[in-house]
Amino acid sequence: MPFPFQKKVMVMTTDSTKPIQKITIQTEDDLYLAISAARHLMNRLDFNKVDQQKVIVSISELCRNILNYSEHGTFLAEVTGNKLRLTFEDRGPGIEDLDEILNGRKSPLSKGLGMGLAGVKRLMDYFQIETSREGGGTKVIVEKWNTCENRKRRND
Ligand SMILES: Nc1ncnc2c1ncn2[C@@H]1O[C@H](COP(=O)(O)OP(=O)(O)OP(=O)(O)O)[C@@H](O)[C@H]1O
Ligand SMILES: [Mg+2]
Repeated sequence: MPFPFQKKVMVMTTDSTKPIQKITIQTEDDLYLAISAARHLMNRLDFNKVDQQKVIVSISELCRNILNYSEHGTFLAEVTGNKLRLTFEDRGPGIEDLDEILNGRKSPLSKGLGMGLAGVKRLMDYFQIETSREGGGTKVIVEKWNTCENRKRRND
């Protein structure tokens, strides 16, 4: 007969592998929840370790931007075919001079090195950003694909 602890773990695993995960980002702990949700989905997609780490760094950067500049927002993780798509959305003040920031210029409002967005753009396979200074907030969509080429680099 299985003991209760084993049963509890099984229930948690079933919930956390849902192909869509939405999390409100309001505290630092929510950032770790988002990483954990993405990790389960990446295991399901059989991502290699290098790509998993790139996704985790990207989630950390984009969630920290929400916490630093907008107070709160949402994180959505979806699996479609061999792709992991992550959407970060907030209703904060928006980003001024986005093009320059993506080209490496540091914002005067920066609370860090000013390299977060440019770094995420480089780490992920797809990067899209929409931002509005008139109350529309900021929406970032990124994707990591488990392509044949990426699988060849697997090291686990
Ligand atoms: N969600 C957001 N809402 C409003 N402004 C943002 C948001 N994300 C980024 N910004 C603005 O864009 C700038 C650049 O963000 P980026 O993440 O590239 O660097 P940073 O946060 O300044 O520093 P780092 O990420 O290296 O610690 C920020 O300084 C901030 O002014
Ligand atoms: Mg940042």
